[in-house]
Amino acid sequence: MPVELGVPSSTDGAAVHALIAACPPLDTNSMYCNLLQCSHFAGTSAIARDAEGVLGFVSGYRPPAQPDVLFVWQVAVAPRGRGQRLAGRLIEDILGRPECRRVRFIETTITADNEASWALFRSIARRGNAELHHAPHFERDEHFLGSHATEHLVRIGPFPTDSGDSNA
Ligand SMILES: CC(C)(COP(=O)(O)OP(=O)(O)OC[C@H]1O[C@@H](n2cnc3c(N)ncnc32)[C@H](O)[C@@H]1OP(=O)(O)O)[C@@H](O)C(=O)NCCC(=O)NCCS
Repeated sequence: MPVELGVPSSTDGAAVHALIAACPPLDTNSMYCNLLQCSHFAGTSAIARDAEGVLGFVSGYRPPAQPDVLFVWQVAVAPRGRGQRLAGRLIEDILGRPECRRVRFIETTITADNEASWALFRSIARRGNAELHHAPHFERDEHFLGSHATEHLVRIGPFPTDSGDSNA
């Protein structure tokens, strides 16, 4: 079976939960959270499957106050699927949907030491001819009470809209 990319459904939630647990350094969430991602947020999330099961998953949403932003929450590709541009293709799959026709920016947060994640989002900016800016966002002491490394907000864009307008 070739790798298939598409919209997740609620019956994928448990397998997504297992995938996230197998992809450190990602934080696991409750299985209920993954069920919501695969149902309420399915239109801005993407799943990849092969004959062995779930191979990759991207959870995302459009922040209510920022309809031109796709916020990418987590990206996970099983070790057997890495290095094939799967993470990048999953994000492109989301961006190509009608739900995202007004999206002009991608945002995500990354810890300073997650080299694979920085490489992924720098690659997305480069391929989209878009700028990438970043700044500390959720900070170790102020937000996480010392229990988690600072998450840096990464903002990529603007991407052209359907009308071809790419002004910021
Ligand atoms: C990060 C992760 C999703 C990448 O998945 P992937 O499908 O292998 O990534 P891609 O093949 O789409 O690679 C995208 C770009 O990132 C680069 N990249 C991917 N993994 C990398 C790594 N470990 N080190 C350096 N660069 C890396 C690729 O070379 C590619 O860059 P290019 O376009 O310049 O060639 C995957 O390694 C993973 O699940 N890691 C554990 C969870 C995690 O850290 N998720 C990200 C935080 S949300």
